[in-house]
Amino acid sequence: MTGETAHKLRGDYSRMRPDHTVDQEWESYTPAQHELWRRLYGRQMKLVPQYASDEFCDTLATLNFGEGIPRFEAINRMLGPATNWQLVAVPGLVPDLTFFDHLANRRFPVTVWLRDPEEFDYIVEPDVFHDFFGHVPMLFNPVFADYMQSYGRGGIKAHELGAIEMLSRLYWYTVEFGLIETPRGLRTYGAGILSSGGEISYCVESPEPNRIGFDLLRIMRTNYKIDTYQETYFVIRDFEQLFEATAPDFTPYYDELRGKEPYPAWAVLASDQVYQRGTATARRA
Ligand code: PHE
Ligand code: CO
Repeated sequence: MTGETAHKLRGDYSRMRPDHTVDQEWESYTPAQHELWRRLYGRQMKLVPQYASDEFCDTLATLNFGEGIPRFEAINRMLGPATNWQLVAVPGLVPDLTFFDHLANRRFPVTVWLRDPEEFDYIVEPDVFHDFFGHVPMLFNPVFADYMQSYGRGGIKAHELGAIEMLSRLYWYTVEFGLIETPRGLRTYGAGILSSGGEISYCVESPEPNRIGFDLLRIMRTNYKIDTYQETYFVIRDFEQLFEATAPDFTPYYDELRGKEPYPAWAVLASDQVYQRGTATARRA
């Protein structure tokens, strides 16, 4: 995740290396933390078969990390051969450029701390459960894995061009909150949804939000909500579509969008390919 680093961050940043990585220190997780992990995992596992993309479900089944907080090393032994990615441990959110540099080198930063039991339903910053459960299974998918690396490279460029805000919207509406079309209806591949007890069913079942076909420039011009369920979800047909649409050089796109007023998160435009216009938006009109 990028952005939103204005408030004091929660992790322990005192022992990190220059690239912001730390040791996971798996031995220091308590039995109560492993138990909380099992509860979080158990809740999501009941929902995943109905709401998550096949790519996500298939990998999750083979990973078997429901016993307790996983050792990153153990996953790396499987992830390396699968897609040549590696997990690195971090204290929490890291600066944009550091994050992009890790992705560009096929390293995914995973937060080491776990939320408190009172935060079972909602946390403000991503913790190890979000980072791991939501993101790691998708890194086993070859096309998605390549998309993540391209995004990292694109991030470094966006930083130079002063376009991080636009690019971050793409991450938000795909990697964190993306939907995908399947023969069995819409499903999610977005980590922010996959790790959420409530939004995972809401994003597919609720009549409230808009569901709109993926449109790169439109997304990079759309604001998003960080403290409520999304008002709009964007739907891809498959991961090839995502990869191909984002392959061109974004420099002219940024030039075109710069200075234009962003669309509100609830907007539906005449040019949108609308799967479903949300009741919340319809009420506004
Ligand atoms: N092609 C984009 C660019 O030139 C990089 C990118 C790829 C961004 C994939 C996001 C996702 O900036
Ligand atoms: Co995330």
